[in-house]
Amino acid sequence: MEIQISIGKLETEKCPAVALFLPQEAPSFAAKTVYSSLISRLYRQKDFTGKFEETAWLYPDEIEAERLLLVGLGEWNNKKLNENESRQIAQSAIGHAVLAARKLALEDLRLWLEGPLVEKFGYRLTAQMAAEALLLANYRFLKYKSKITNKEKTLRRATLLISDERQATEAKAGARVGQIIGKWTCFARDLQNTPSNDLTPSRLAEIAAETTAKQKISCQIYDEKGIRELGMGALLGVGQGSVNPPRFVVLDYHPAKNSRPDLPLIDTKENRGPLVLVGKGITFDTGGISIKPADDLDLMKFDMSGAAVVLATMCALAELQAPLHLVGLMPLAENMPSGSAQRPGDIVRACNGKTIEVADTDAEGRLILADALAFAHRYKPKAVIDLATLTGAIYTALGETAAGLFGNDQSLMARIKKAAERTGERVWELPLFQEFFDYMKSDIADIRNIASKPSGGGSSKGAAFLATFAEGYKWAHLDIAAMAHPKEDKPLVPKGGSGYGVRLLVQFCRDWMETRE
Ligand code: BES
Ligand code: MN
Ligand code: ZN
Repeated sequence: MEIQISIGKLETEKCPAVALFLPQEAPSFAAKTVYSSLISRLYRQKDFTGKFEETAWLYPDEIEAERLLLVGLGEWNNKKLNENESRQIAQSAIGHAVLAARKLALEDLRLWLEGPLVEKFGYRLTAQMAAEALLLANYRFLKYKSKITNKEKTLRRATLLISDERQATEAKAGARVGQIIGKWTCFARDLQNTPSNDLTPSRLAEIAAETTAKQKISCQIYDEKGIRELGMGALLGVGQGSVNPPRFVVLDYHPAKNSRPDLPLIDTKENRGPLVLVGKGITFDTGGISIKPADDLDLMKFDMSGAAVVLATMCALAELQAPLHLVGLMPLAENMPSGSAQRPGDIVRACNGKTIEVADTDAEGRLILADALAFAHRYKPKAVIDLATLTGAIYTALGETAAGLFGNDQSLMARIKKAAERTGERVWELPLFQEFFDYMKSDIADIRNIASKPSGGGSSKGAAFLATFAEGYKWAHLDIAAMAHPKEDKPLVPKGGSGYGVRLLVQFCRDWMETRE
């Protein structure tokens, strides 16, 4: 979808539809428009009350546009709303506008931003939020559809309308940021939604190379031989049952120069290293020999969501020219049962020398992450954040409402929580009590990949396993299993791959840049 900024008057826009955003309180803003009488009548008759999620179509003669779309913002001046909540309401409202326009199979929508939105957020932020929301709400995965029905049609064009020419630069700058974030979130969704026959580890690695080549990001791909040379026995073990061999991808974005991923910057000075992002990239998870039941097994194509989000986040930040050294690590494998697959009980050795008893081949995410987290040490990172569809247990704990947050550094976790509140990509901290580490002890290796003792607390056990490979740097883990592919349709997040994490991490990095830590 193309997004433009245009300066003009509401009444002279010649187009299929203009959307107006109106609060539940008396529509003082509406009084300033040519249809004030029409709108107040609508409010008086309670046909439209401005409630959040409410929309109504109007066909006034006084304007050039074919239709006017009224979109409710709810109790916009309610003091109980904080800025973050208002932002999320505004973005959802824009999402509802997109859905309403698409119901009529319209292909062009204009948003009138003057009034409640710019009054609250200013031109720059309003345009950023609008551009981002437009792209997120308009997203559909239609690549594999031979024919597109009217119901599936998406907007081709959207225009952000403002009346004040002096604000155009601000609005354009904001829209650019929103477009970049929205575009890369949708890129992550495309990768997530792509079926596993078309997205093997080698294909995902190739896509990473192709996409990053256009940004200022270097990309190094290790094949099976390379992975063996790195000593990554855990990643190799997970991948060995598949005809589609594993890959390990290292992305490096340096704002000043193209650094060499094969010669990582090892800075001895405190606080100089990169921020490292790690994403679980299982392109399909059958469970391996500890095979999963058939119900919902197709959803296991989403098990590479962490890797997709890391790639997309790096690209977004590079395009935003973030002044921040970033490294992205994507361990990629397909977890299959076969004559060459690893067996329950096998012992593998990660690249830091630690041995792991693979008691369950379905706890494979933590195995490939163990190697990536151990590898991350060589960068002397400022911090490491991993994202993984790690445990089914996180559904039980949090449902489709938040990602599980774990970590070994409260200040890092506080920053992630702040970015989560800002973007609405929620996180919720869960504990890493000593017991969870104790449960992962093995009689015959350094650690087991599943607990031998009591049931329950599966997400914390998985996180405790990861924590032992992340000792020595600040680390946070996001269990995104329930957020990566929600079953509920939301205006900004349609069913299927959600791209959850891109907005969160981009916000996290932008905040980090501002505070110049
Ligand atoms: N990819 C799964 C986690 C998952 C489950 C994601 C359901 C999305 C929906 C992961 O590899 C897995 O199989 N985890 C096991 C761990 C267990 C064997 C300790 C699980 O959660 O059952
Ligand atoms: Mn699994
Ligand atoms: Zn998995």
